[in-house]
Amino acid sequence: MIPANETYLLNRVQNKGSETLASYREHGGYVAIEKILKENTPFDQVIEELKDSGLRGRGGAGFPTGLKFSFMPDPEKDPRPRYLAVNADESEPGTCKDRILLREDPHGLIEGILIACRAIRAEAAYIYVRGEYRKEYNNLFAALAEARAAGLVGKNIAGSDWSCEIWMHKGAGAYICGEETGLMESLEGKRGHPRPKPPFPAGFGLWGQPTTVSNVETLFNVPFILNRGARWFRTMGTEKSPGNILCGISGHVERPGVYEVPLGISTRTLIEEYAGGVWKGRKLKAFFPGGSSTGLLPASAIDTPMDHDGMKDAGSMLGTAALMVLDETACTVRAMEVVARFYDHESCGQCSQCREGTQWLYQIFRRLENGQGRVEDVELLDSLAHGMAPGKTICALADAAAIPTHAIVKNFKDEMMEHATLGRCPLSHDHSTKEKREPAEAGA
Ligand SMILES: Cc1cc2nc3c(=O)[nH]c(=O)nc-3n(C[C@H](O)[C@H](O)[C@H](O)COP(=O)(O)O)c2cc1C
Repeated sequence: MIPANETYLLNRVQNKGSETLASYREHGGYVAIEKILKENTPFDQVIEELKDSGLRGRGGAGFPTGLKFSFMPDPEKDPRPRYLAVNADESEPGTCKDRILLREDPHGLIEGILIACRAIRAEAAYIYVRGEYRKEYNNLFAALAEARAAGLVGKNIAGSDWSCEIWMHKGAGAYICGEETGLMESLEGKRGHPRPKPPFPAGFGLWGQPTTVSNVETLFNVPFILNRGARWFRTMGTEKSPGNILCGISGHVERPGVYEVPLGISTRTLIEEYAGGVWKGRKLKAFFPGGSSTGLLPASAIDTPMDHDGMKDAGSMLGTAALMVLDETACTVRAMEVVARFYDHESCGQCSQCREGTQWLYQIFRRLENGQGRVEDVELLDSLAHGMAPGKTICALADAAAIPTHAIVKNFKDEMMEHATLGRCPLSHDHSTKEKREPAEAGA
């Protein structure tokens, strides 16, 4: 499929007062939910439209959204209350795309939540917002108040007989609370310890009731699909990964920022055209395509399509499409030391493979980088990662640490070996004097 140049996700954010109800209304806001309520569109029809669109979750795993919605039990057979949990925790390193939507276009999310709740027949939605996102929280809070005052949230929405409440909750800075079951535990007021699956959230979610967990950007796509149709959505992106995606580009590029692009666009176009190329006229060395949980790829993979299959075939993952770029002066071992430290810090400690494994990954990457590593450490890291994942722990945090570890061993083994044989980092960095970007250089 030819990627279209059309954008829709970020079209409204440049408008003055884009976060207000008036501005959202002016640009066709709440038309989709009002139409659904007025015409009493069957629940299944909304889900079918989402299935036909091929929309896949934007929270990292890429699971088909319509299919996920269809897992909610039939209320005729299972009359328990049901909920939508909105994942606005955005804590995957490098990822900063939900943030723009929350801050600049919160009504777009609210409408997406309403349509989703209507489709899964939920009576309430809980938005779990990353604790550090203060402005985002405040803007969304104000937008919710406006929508409630306008009769768009709460009892008898838009004059219909349908009622739906939306509540907000602030996270407290734990990565694990972005994992869907950790998020639900946290919403229930407990420690964010992920739950074993099964049972899956559609059967046993918030307070033991049927629940769907969806990411902000995923839900943000929903009103567009309902307004313009599944066929329109499929004119963008690829057959298996349709639509546009928000790609946050960071690291050693001239113009870091969040860009809206069709899925399937080549990484080269993203780096060279959108982000203005590798900074300071340097060469590309490596990139994480979708956050720190995705495998680090070498510069030779620059033509890989930014979509689920393309990244998988290249030995990595699309993840959250948070593209992190390393230039030729960067050390991949140092990069992985930083990444491993993060997972060590964020492991909740429930599973020994993760608790011990992340700690050992960090120690070994650190000693390699500090010149105290051994040649055997390279294989040791790989086998440690094999002991942690896949499917060996309650949640995928262990996988998130294991995947980039396998990738560095596969793609940058020579550089790792050099650390061990030289007894120092071959790039001899003084990491205390990291290169800084001038404030004026920072892009969108
Ligand atoms: C350790 C961990 C952290 C996660 N953090 C987030 C997050 O911050 N935001 C998010 O949307 N999904 C996150 N996820 C994925 C969620 O578990 C879940 O798949 C997602 O919210 C589903 O939404 P989607 O289907 O719309 O993508 C995380 C997963 C893991 C294993």
